[in-house]
Amino acid sequence: AVDARVEELLAQLSLEEKAGQLTQLFYFGSLADPEVGAGIGVGDDQPGDVEQALGRGGAGSLLFVTDPAQTNRLQRLAAEGSRLGIPLLFGFDVIHGLRTILPVPIALAASWDPPTIERSQAVAAREARAVGIHWTFAPMVDIARDPRWGRIVEGAGEDPFLGAAVAAAQVRGFQGGAIGAPERVIAGPKHFAGYGAAAGGRDYDEVSLSDHDFWNIYLPPFRAALEAGAGNVMTAYMDLNGVPATGNHWLLADVLRGELGFDGFLVSDANAVRSLLTHGFATDLTDAAARALGTGLDLEMAVTDPAYAHLPEAVAAGLVDEAALDVCVRRVLATKIRLGLFEDPYVDEARAAEVLADPAHRDVARLAAERSAVLLRNEGGLLPLDPAALGTVAVLGPLADSRRDTIGPWVFDQDNDETVTILAGLRDRLGDGVQVDFLPGVRPGQRTFPSMFDMWGDNAPVDPVDFDDEAELQEAVDLAAAAEVAVVVVGEWQNMIGEAASRSSLELPGRQLELLQAVVATGTPTVAVVMNGRPLDLRWAAEHVPAILDVWYPGTQGGAAVANLLVGDAVPGGKLPFTWPRTVGQVPLFYAHTVSHEPQNQGRRYWDEESTPLFPFGHGLSYSSFTYAGLALDATSVGVDGTVSVSVEVTNTGDLDADEVVQLYLHQQHGRASRPVRELKGFERVAVGAGQTRTVTFPVTPDHRRYWNAAERDWVLDASTFDVWVGGSSAADLTATFEVTA
Ligand code: IFM
Repeated sequence: AVDARVEELLAQLSLEEKAGQLTQLFYFGSLADPEVGAGIGVGDDQPGDVEQALGRGGAGSLLFVTDPAQTNRLQRLAAEGSRLGIPLLFGFDVIHGLRTILPVPIALAASWDPPTIERSQAVAAREARAVGIHWTFAPMVDIARDPRWGRIVEGAGEDPFLGAAVAAAQVRGFQGGAIGAPERVIAGPKHFAGYGAAAGGRDYDEVSLSDHDFWNIYLPPFRAALEAGAGNVMTAYMDLNGVPATGNHWLLADVLRGELGFDGFLVSDANAVRSLLTHGFATDLTDAAARALGTGLDLEMAVTDPAYAHLPEAVAAGLVDEAALDVCVRRVLATKIRLGLFEDPYVDEARAAEVLADPAHRDVARLAAERSAVLLRNEGGLLPLDPAALGTVAVLGPLADSRRDTIGPWVFDQDNDETVTILAGLRDRLGDGVQVDFLPGVRPGQRTFPSMFDMWGDNAPVDPVDFDDEAELQEAVDLAAAAEVAVVVVGEWQNMIGEAASRSSLELPGRQLELLQAVVATGTPTVAVVMNGRPLDLRWAAEHVPAILDVWYPGTQGGAAVANLLVGDAVPGGKLPFTWPRTVGQVPLFYAHTVSHEPQNQGRRYWDEESTPLFPFGHGLSYSSFTYAGLALDATSVGVDGTVSVSVEVTNTGDLDADEVVQLYLHQQHGRASRPVRELKGFERVAVGAGQTRTVTFPVTPDHRRYWNAAERDWVLDASTFDVWVGGSSAADLTATFEVTA
């Protein structure tokens, strides 16, 4: 039935209207006065042009509209004001929430808990769909092995196996099955492919990826997202091995459509088709449009002056075959039909307000923040704090009471005022019986040039006036000296990470390290709470600060979650989704490396720094403790098609009920290629009661052992000896061996 409707519509469309269906435009008009742009400096004069385009069928999709009254108004221009009344598809960057802000994606990944991730993105989807958004430009499934790259915060870190599991959970949460599921949105994994490998961690920079890394490391999360049913994919800005991703026929047609079997609709990143000129790839906009469409790119996302407006010219000039264009139009029309937009293009504005205010969403956000936190260090069991034994707590650092920073980057429709900061959360949890004093101590670190996202009203950073640096620092230190415990919140301001927010250093910005050092020097037991989306240089803290809790950008309910964690109402169980380097000079540093010629000096590869990380991939402590024993394999020898079942007993040896993420790593000792020293091939977050033991079992299947061999340009399975390790991090030492025979 969908096909018949598509053909009926297609037959009525002019060439210009077909090009319109393949065009997605940003819309920056304000609802109060559509003639006036949102005042953000980009496309301020474009709302009128966009509205005219809608009337003549010149755009089939819009982005950056989040007000239900506005989505309805614009929808009406298309659905009732254009010749064929084809409704609009609204897309948006709903990355970790719309009104209720969930922890940032790297935090969700740190939960190692697919059900939590799925529930979180289902909340984001529900809010988005209620205001009229049909499709999210998420999840970002790009592997990131260079923490200088700002977009590491939007992904799941360095590992393809964890990345695949997180990608699939997000797609299930956003999309909830087939396109058109109620209260869900289409998921759009991005950016195809390799964008996270930007040279030097510089956003948008060129990417050179080996054949080995492309297939084994960077593609698995995309494959998993598509297997979970994602209806959309977004291209990437950069060139991959010299050919721009958005015009790369091999990448988009052969790999994405062919090898991965993707049959949904493909969108460009913003202005990426026009950028084919910047790349020195296309000669003009007509050529750019023809080359992008030639890859099967369905929708062009553009700020103004779309290249796809030149598609009719391209057809006339013989650069594009109209039949190829029709294939793309069919995919867009079918999506709109499946969403039910022809029957019901509008949203109920009153209901949207109710959905956005749903308290159940805040509960999901708090729980996700609790489950995402990673306890990096806890010397002497300083945490959890006992509220009954506390008189005064000093909460220090400018991030401790910053609503905007608590929710992190990539949000536009949040209500900053409803965000619970760490200070507010602690005051609320500790109550009147404990005196909680606060001072920022140091000024917010500022970027040397503004972020492109600072232009949105509620996102601009606030610079304090009348801030006497020396006096403020001293007062904060005095507060710490007089307190029983100091909680120092350190990290990066939210606009220091995200798109176009790469850094050349991993140091704590501003004078935060100085603050931390001065507080520790007072002798007051000190907890460092870290707010971040990338590993930071915590070498000093890891030696001198007894307790370090990584809470990421924990979202709307972040402060409530952190307070629960600090007092033990919630027990940290998250694990690092990346290797935490000691210093930026070690970057890129990842656990699944190969070994080559042994260096001298006890295996050191630098003479001036350790080769080991500050914290390994998968690391994360608990207020309880766990032991592993009874590693058992159901077979010590199988054929190449065989599966080995690996089980282990994990015992909670502490006094608190707690979660542990049990991890399985695999290593192939020899074969047709040199294989990584360890690779994650199984994990499960389990709740284990105090004193209890649980048995966890993992299958090690041929899929877990298969790899792309660059020498043969093919997937291979070797007969070999395999080591397995099971434990609570990538440094797990409980090990066994099995054989795979030819
Ligand atoms: O979705 C994003 C993409 O990830 C980066 N460029 C802009 C797009 C739309 O905001």
